[in-house]
Amino acid sequence: MIDAHVHLRDMDLSYKEDFTTGTAAAAAGGFTTVLDMPNTLPPTDSSSRLIEKIERAQSKILTNVGFHVAAVPDSAQISQMSRLGAYSLKLYMPNPISPLDIQDDNTILTLLQSSKESDLRVTVHGEDQGLLRQPYNKETESFVELAKARSEQAELHALSRVLGLAAKTGCSVHLSHITLPSSILAARKYRHATTEVTPHHVLLSEKAIKRKGWKAWMVPPLRSESIRKNLLLLLSKGLVTIVASDHAPHTIEEKSGAVAESPPGVPGLETTLPLMLTLVTRRVLSMSLLIRLLSSNPARVFNLPGKGRLEEGFDADIVLVDLKRKTRIRPESFLSKAKYSPFENVHVQGQVHTTLVGGTVVFQDGEIVGKPGSGRIVKRGVRG
Ligand code: NCD
Ligand code: ZN
Repeated sequence: MIDAHVHLRDMDLSYKEDFTTGTAAAAAGGFTTVLDMPNTLPPTDSSSRLIEKIERAQSKILTNVGFHVAAVPDSAQISQMSRLGAYSLKLYMPNPISPLDIQDDNTILTLLQSSKESDLRVTVHGEDQGLLRQPYNKETESFVELAKARSEQAELHALSRVLGLAAKTGCSVHLSHITLPSSILAARKYRHATTEVTPHHVLLSEKAIKRKGWKAWMVPPLRSESIRKNLLLLLSKGLVTIVASDHAPHTIEEKSGAVAESPPGVPGLETTLPLMLTLVTRRVLSMSLLIRLLSSNPARVFNLPGKGRLEEGFDADIVLVDLKRKTRIRPESFLSKAKYSPFENVHVQGQVHTTLVGGTVVFQDGEIVGKPGSGRIVKRGVRG
């Protein structure tokens, strides 16, 4: 299993998660390869920053790890980061990770062009900066109000703008954590677009924000029950390219303080596969579709040769699951530093039994048995 959207943090944010705890959570959740996001401290926005991260990660990881890098305006940097094996340029539309004039079409066009020349995909967080109602009421005590400030229009507008600009350049774009059925349908009209949904956006709705507050606060926010149902329907029909967790750990202290200051994001590495397997046991998804969404499609989209198939000559990155085992999600036993979840106490059927990375058992019977450093750094297009 490959999780293409993970915030492993580390560096100066290692109090939230580090390379060892993040990849331990991955192994426990059945993921053998994760692709890390660049919105760290410092951000991964140059070749030297990428090298720094690779060097730091090497001795700490339990699974395979690859890196997305920040979208930057400098095309020389883009080509250097591409040569170092970056998986994509992350374009964070609400608030660019590295300085970039996000509202200027020409800036985005140039970025898409350079990206195409370096054979890199642009991974998009689609929420339009200008349409997010800000500033928030600093006194707000309501996560529902925070969620309302990040409208459906903000997503639709951002994504259709990027799709239109990408079509002019032929650049491949990957649309992260889509929340709306209409976004999926819009993306399907562009040949070089791929789509991603998270378990939380297909299984939970704004009712969870009311009931669980900060535990269900992430961006883009959870939507209405009817949107959620239709998104799940598109997923089950095979119209979405991949599922990713958007594992976004923060501390409970940060999350549970003043509402307007609460950082968005929830951990997902240890809940994604059990939740998806539950959909399989309930016959909402087929097992072959689950494997496409969590393994073969991410391998193809992000160009991970040797991965995504259980076949002679491919890497022995294997997860064994017990499909009969019924459990309940218990965040207090997560290996991630972020021990909370909007899925707390949810009953699931299907549990990870053993995770092998490169032929070595890393996780078995509820315990990490691998050693930090046993995972590999993976690079786009390079056979590990
Ligand atoms: C992510 C984070 O915390 O880094 N938060 C989130 O709510 N999804 C950022 C992101 O992926 O947008
Ligand atoms: Zn995002």
